[in-house]
Amino acid sequence: LTRERYPVRRLPFSVVSREDLEAFERVVPGRVITDPEVLEASNVDWLRTVRGSSAVLLRPRTSEEVAHILRYCHERNLAVNPQGGNTGMVGGSVPVFDEIILSTALMNQVISFHDLSGTLVCQAGCVLEELSRHVEERGFIMPLDLGAKGSCHIGGNVATNAGGLRFLRYGSLHGTVLGLEVVLADGTVLNCLSAPRKDNTGYDLKQLFIGSEGTLGVITAVSILCPPKPRAVNVAFLGCPGFPEVLQTFSTCKGLLGEILSAYEFMDAECMWLVRHHLCLASPVQESPFYVLIETSGSRAGHDAEKLNDFLEQVLRSGLVTDGTVATDHMKVKALWALRERISEALSRDGYVYKYDLSLPTERLYDLVTDLRVRLGPQAKHVVGYGHLGDGNLHLNVTSEAFSPSVLDALEPYVYEWTAGQRGSVSAEHGLGFRKRGVISYSKPPEALRLMRQLKALLDPKGILNPYKTLPAQA
Ligand code: FAD
Ligand code: MLT
Ligand code: ZN
Repeated sequence: LTRERYPVRRLPFSVVSREDLEAFERVVPGRVITDPEVLEASNVDWLRTVRGSSAVLLRPRTSEEVAHILRYCHERNLAVNPQGGNTGMVGGSVPVFDEIILSTALMNQVISFHDLSGTLVCQAGCVLEELSRHVEERGFIMPLDLGAKGSCHIGGNVATNAGGLRFLRYGSLHGTVLGLEVVLADGTVLNCLSAPRKDNTGYDLKQLFIGSEGTLGVITAVSILCPPKPRAVNVAFLGCPGFPEVLQTFSTCKGLLGEILSAYEFMDAECMWLVRHHLCLASPVQESPFYVLIETSGSRAGHDAEKLNDFLEQVLRSGLVTDGTVATDHMKVKALWALRERISEALSRDGYVYKYDLSLPTERLYDLVTDLRVRLGPQAKHVVGYGHLGDGNLHLNVTSEAFSPSVLDALEPYVYEWTAGQRGSVSAEHGLGFRKRGVISYSKPPEALRLMRQLKALLDPKGILNPYKTLPAQA
């Protein structure tokens, strides 16, 4: 399913032997999984476009167990694929050949929560939604949220430097992660977990591992800063007559809502068709070419409602918005968010999905979608655009009945060249993993790539951690 489409050769790692399995059994007794049925789910990614053939899955509970495993694999030259919730979008979370899958699923303990600072310390395998519940009970929220929250692990979020739906307000994990514990390829435990908010003692090593996609070390614990839970949350779901109006609505809302704006997401009419058709979700507003979801989060309901009403009055009066609905009730807020969060699920039910996750100048964010509809013509089932408009991040997705080399040829390298021409990024938030590693040069100069290779060689000289991922194959 994959290796043919993305040609790659197995590197000369050792093959897991009976003695290796016995050694693992001594480190993680009863947690060495070799049952092919159980392994199937861990060998295939969420999008079902990448499949490995690993014969062993390890489930450590502690950092010491991870250290033991890596020390052993390093000595034996065995390749390892760290895996969290396996929701990654670029094929980084599953093996390419027979790499050992090292799962964080049982590393799911909260270590501490400090309710003055909002600092949460937890193991890497905690599921994001469970952490949200944990901190919300204490009057805080997680600084990130994404559609995969029910499955993804915080370690996976940090490893991919996930962006998501709260990025506009709370920024990147490079800012909210305060500390990390990481096990290096040779089993060394690097404890940079208990970092204070401000700490300029030397190089900020944790930053190297944020977004490193399991290629530089295994993240075993995370310390993260949680903002206070907003007392008032409003969601407005609006219909816009065109993309210029989506942009003008964004400038208007930045001006009028100011500090209470916490999300500005958009989706086009084809996305709405897909969530209605495949997931039976009904649109709460009249049919429109574009929809925007605006969230406000503040500390006083009356103040926020007044600001939101002023904004809505202005955008409706000026014709920027043609229809809209507002929710404060938790269930209705969730239902409006579902329309946006579940687009990727609807797409995956539509056929084969060609996925692009691009940073572009906001004013040109939709041009490529329009352009590709013409370029692809009837070859494509759907060409859709949605995403985190407030962050300049477009999710451009194309579907066809089944994988088609001619559709792929029409898309690549066209999409990447177009993006590079705008000085954008060919991976805004999903990373490069296995499927996108070959396109890094569209967004990074050769000097940066060389330094990345040097860092990889320094931290993982045998290249056992997530081989075939992130960095392109060397000629
Ligand atoms: P996995 O998928 O298991 O792994 C991802 C990568 O991280 C792999 O390379 C893996 O080797 C590595 N890794 C995992 N855990 C560790 C660890 N402990 N140490 C070292 N390396 C590790 N992404 C966004 O940025 N924004 C979104 O809005 C967003 N929405 C999504 C919505 C849906 C429905 C889905 C399915 C995915 C979405 N994603 C989004 C993709 C996103 O990357 C992941 O959901 C998430 O961050 C990955 O976490 P995970 O635990 O599933 O990691
Ligand atoms: C999203 O924003 O919905 C996610 O990044 C997933 C996707 O791109 O489909
Ligand atoms: Zn996204």
